Amino acid sequence: MKRDLISIADLGRPDLLRYLEQAAHVEALPAASKSRLLTGRVLAVLFFEPSTRTRLSFEAAMARLGGSVLGFAEATTASVVKGESLRDTARTVERYADILAIRHPREGAARVVAEATGIPIVNAGDGTNQHPSQTLLDLYTLKKYFGTLDGLKIALAGDLKYSRTVHSLVQALALFDAVEFTLVSPPMLRLPEYLRESGPAARAKFAETEVLDDAVERCNVVYMTRVQKERFPDLLEYEKVKDAYCIDARLLQHAAPGLKIMHPLPRVNEIHADVDQTPHAGYFDQVANGVIMRQAIMLDLLGVTP
Ligand code: CP
Repeated sequence: MKRDLISIADLGRPDLLRYLEQAAHVEALPAASKSRLLTGRVLAVLFFEPSTRTRLSFEAAMARLGGSVLGFAEATTASVVKGESLRDTARTVERYADILAIRHPREGAARVVAEATGIPIVNAGDGTNQHPSQTLLDLYTLKKYFGTLDGLKIALAGDLKYSRTVHSLVQALALFDAVEFTLVSPPMLRLPEYLRESGPAARAKFAETEVLDDAVERCNVVYMTRVQKERFPDLLEYEKVKDAYCIDARLLQHAAPGLKIMHPLPRVNEIHADVDQTPHAGYFDQVANGVIMRQAIMLDLLGVTP
């Protein structure tokens, strides 16, 4: 039976640990031996929304494993503009590729594609819902920093309503022991209730605040997010909250020792450039770990043992 990566809610703690182990193994392999693991395999990337990191890191991951890539970076160049359905697009592309990564503005789109096709599907972001490969690379980055995911004190800050990276990350970290979440957002951008009340998150410890400074002093990690302008039905509402939080080097003078600032990127105003040179900056480590984790994901879904 084929396997997909659609939602963190489909995974258990053993699955997450398996991905983390696989990524560590892949990272340790010499480049030369990695470069033949997926020779002859083809990755399709169907991106109906903009992306820099997710699409290019999937492409880099496949290229460095010896495979090749086809697809599109914007839907305007595909036959969907002529009215072709998502299912027909996917059923066509599965004839050309061995594995498919899709980003789409509609929640549930990746699952529709997974159910319509016989090749492994990776959800590279579906609307405000899920971004599971981002979460796996976030977990890998956290594991490298702290050695464990148990007992972390993590603040999630900014747009907790629309950020799919936060939604996936909450579901994943809730599977680990004694993780404490501090939710930092304006009232308008609070984490949806269903994410706190269902699954393992229902047993997790949450605190909620509108103030970031205290979290910087108490937490191991502050995970910043961009306020997602493209998701707001009313841009006047966006204007009210777009600059709600900004971390800068001055604020970090009171940071907990070893605090890491993470961000899925792209950032707009949430993290001042003066943080980049501090030991707290973790976001470009996340970028680098994205290639490794996406290699691990593709090898796993294609059933290739490195
Ligand atoms: N983190 C992330 O999904 O970035 P992109 O939108 O650039 O892919």
